[in-house]
Amino acid sequence: MNGERPPPSGVLIDPSKDHITVDGRVVRPVTRHRYIVLNKPLGVITTARDESARTTVLDVVGEEGHSGHRLFPVGRLDADTSGLLLLTDDGELAFRLTHPRYKVSKEYIAVVIGNPSASDLEALRSGVKLEEGITAPAEVEALAVTAGSRDSVLAELRIVIREGRHRQVRRMVHAIGHKVHSLRRTGFGPLKLGRLKTGGWRVLGEAEVAALRRAVGEDAG
Ligand code: URA
Repeated sequence: MNGERPPPSGVLIDPSKDHITVDGRVVRPVTRHRYIVLNKPLGVITTARDESARTTVLDVVGEEGHSGHRLFPVGRLDADTSGLLLLTDDGELAFRLTHPRYKVSKEYIAVVIGNPSASDLEALRSGVKLEEGITAPAEVEALAVTAGSRDSVLAELRIVIREGRHRQVRRMVHAIGHKVHSLRRTGFGPLKLGRLKTGGWRVLGEAEVAALRRAVGEDAG
């Protein structure tokens, strides 16, 4: 270390200053990745760069959110969907979290126009036919029914899916003859949106990153 042999008891390394070699070869410390969860506002798009200069999720977290890392979104939310979006620079974990093999859960609160019947909800649970095939089993729970505009009602549903097809929740709701009024993602695998305000973000703690790794069968190392 810095041209000298470290003591056998070990030594604390400062990666910004210390120069480490083993048998004459330079050793670089493992780079620490960054993981942040954002409460995506409506109208913001999930892409790294937008040609028509619309606001992206990366703009929302800004320089402070990036903190020198090349973050990218893990999966995507439609511009008209709000809620939990994970951003990271850990490509390996992101790949697994979005790979269909790992069936990572995505929890949504969907407010739908009208009041779906018990058999509609059962159809959502067991699978509905979309253009490209039948959806996998989902968890579906009716949370509340409220008055909408004019004489319509709005039903609030909690829907948990383990796939990530394009506009999947909207198309599932459409398949049972209803329309989504608003859609918010509240959970992603072990992560929960909690009380994060719209447009707000926070850095994940080590336990949360370890839980994400466990969700895709990576050990915590
Ligand atoms: N399903 C949708 O329809 N839209 C999203 O943004 C996410 C899931």
